[in-house]
Parts: sequence; structure tokens; C-alpha cells
Amino acid sequence: MSTILSRTKTLKNGETLHLRNVKLLEAAEIIHFVKTVGVETDFLTFGAGEFNKTVAEEETIISEHLAAPNRIFIAATIQGEIVGILNVTASPKPRLQHSGEFGVSVLKKHWGKGIGRLLIETMLEWAEHSPIIRKLNLKVLANNTTALALYKSIGFEEEGYLKEDTFVNGVYQDAHVMAYFV
Ligand SMILES: CC(C)(COP(=O)(O)OP(=O)(O)OC[C@H]1O[C@@H](n2cnc3c(N)ncnc32)[C@H](O)[C@@H]1OP(=O)(O)O)[C@@H](O)C(=O)NCCC(=O)NCCS
Repeated sequence: MSTILSRTKTLKNGETLHLRNVKLLEAAEIIHFVKTVGVETDFLTFGAGEFNKTVAEEETIISEHLAAPNRIFIAATIQGEIVGILNVTASPKPRLQHSGEFGVSVLKKHWGKGIGRLLIETMLEWAEHSPIIRKLNLKVLANNTTALALYKSIGFEEEGYLKEDTFVNGVYQDAHVMAYFV
């Protein structure tokens, strides 16, 4: 069972941000969120029209994150609206269960307010209290300068560089592999 998490933070601009686990009943809102960020940014592994999960499929993903001790799905909300999400997935295999993969995204209109940093700091706090998670991994496109700077400033280490890893709008993009050791 993943930790039940609830935090309230004040953003740089004075708005109140709530950080908590994604709820099973929010599957449709999560799908809408992911479709929106898929349109807003070219830095994810999917673009407009390429995220096609059903509510039932998304509910399965949310419940798996709620059930597994080495997974977490965090929502950042402002006045009840989901403005950012972060999820950690990890294998149940004993040899791999300590190593999580995570993804983070924030709605474009809320970029630069500190929400991405708070989502990652919340994940790290969860990981530090986890008896299983020892390492958090991510892959970030080489042209995603904001995300790269953010991860480095938090203490993520570069572990590798993947040439022509992702094909975005007709261009092959390189990617950095980064990790945080808990
Ligand atoms: C990456 C992302 C999650 C960051 O979220 P955010 O809420 O805007 O991030 P924050 O406001 O917490 O922090 C951004 C940091 O980057 C810095 N930054 C912003 N633009 C920057 C730029 N062009 N170059 C360098 N640093 C930059 C900010 O100063 C801030 O640093 P600070 O906390 O020291 O002030 C968000 O931009 C996003 O969702 N992007 C699209 C999806 C994506 O790229 N996800 C990551 C895939 S690996």
C-alpha cells in the first residue's frame, strides 16, 4: 500500500497548492489532464491525440499505484483543479523493486510557479520514508532545458546520454538519463 499523502504549500505567487494521492474517482480528470499536457508540450513521449486510455484503464493504473508500496501517483491541485501530476512506477520483482521511474508534468498556464519542484520534493520525501525505494530514474529530452536545470538543481545525477532516442515532429531528439539516489 502506497503512503497516504497530503500536504499544503504556498506558492511563490501566494496561491495555495495541495499535494495528495490521485484518487480512483479522478480517472477521467487525469485522462483530460494528460491529453491537455500532450497538446501543450513537445517534451513528453506522446503528442496530441496519442494518449487514448479509457477510464477503466486509467482506474487500473491509479489503483495499482495506490496498492503498491513502491509506486505513487501524486496530484497537485489549486482550488480543487489538478494542475500537475507526478507518478512513480516500479517493478514488483525483488531484484528491481528499489528502482522507480518517474514522470512529471504541470499545466502550461502554471509553469514557473514552483509546482514541478514541489511535486519532485514531495516524491523525494515519500522515497526517503520508503523501506524499498533507493533510486529514482528519469529520461529527459536534451532540449528540455527547464526540466534539465530543475532536476540538476534538486540533485539528480546524469547517468547516460541516449542519441536519437525520441522522434518528435519529424526530428530525432537525444535524451539524458538521470537518477537520484535516496
Ligand atoms: C518541467 C516542468 C514539470 C517544470 O514544472 P514547473 O512547475 O514549471 O517548474 P518549477 O516552477 O517548479 O521550476 C522550474 C525551475 O526551472 C527554472 N527555469 C524555468 N525556465 C528555465 C529555463 N528556460 N532554463 C533554466 N531554468 C529554468 C525556474 O527558475 C525554476 O527554478 P527555481 O525553482 O530555482 O526557481 C514543466 O515545465 C512541464 O510540465 N513541462 C512539460 C512536461 C515536461 O517537460 N515534463 C518533464 C519531462 S522529463
